[in-house]
Amino acid sequence: MSMRDLTLALLLTVANAPAQAAPEGPRLGQPLEPAAISAQDITVFPDGTGLPPGQGTAAEGKAVYDAKCAACHGPNGAGGSAEELAGGKNALTSAEPDKTIGTYWPYASTVFDFIRRSMPLDAPRSLSNGEAYAVTAYLLHANGIIGERDPINASTLPKIRMPNAAGFVWAYPERQPR
Ligand code: HEC
Repeated sequence: MSMRDLTLALLLTVANAPAQAAPEGPRLGQPLEPAAISAQDITVFPDGTGLPPGQGTAAEGKAVYDAKCAACHGPNGAGGSAEELAGGKNALTSAEPDKTIGTYWPYASTVFDFIRRSMPLDAPRSLSNGEAYAVTAYLLHANGIIGERDPINASTLPKIRMPNAAGFVWAYPERQPR
């Protein structure tokens, strides 16, 4: 038998071998439908990957903020019982640093992700994509980063350069978007 025939014979033997029966599992749970997975798959990455359709401006976001956020975060993003979101004056290197969106957050897309997935604290994931864009715009404007009428959407949001963008060290520098 030639080498080629031997190889073919071996391949055929393997291909024709009876399939091994899969071991019996405990039959717990059920397979997830793709729609159920995509409903949970809402991560937005620093380069903007994952941002949904829709858009909003700071002017539109003011109504959302006043109705759904101000009770905890205070008027204009400061002075409430919850985290200060705007108006930080003390540098991160000072003894009492203000960690607001303007002084601390490295990416605007992460602000959108955080708000959409976890705010308002008492009703997370209740904002529409348009409301999440608008209230993100409102907070970026309150921090002096964008104009009141700048449209914030999947293409404009990742292009915003945050004041503290250079203040973080990447564990994987080759993945740093800019
Ligand atoms: C019921 C009170 C409450 C409401 C309403 C609320 N928040 Fe918050 N928010 C909090 C608390 C408390 C934290 C801190 C949570 C934590 O660090 O895990 C927080 C954290 C945040 C942060 C992160 C702050 C930081 O730098 O760590 C952002 C951004 C934010 N909220 C935005 C919003 C927006 C936008 C709304 C309205 C759509 C909203 N929140 C409504 C209580 C609230």
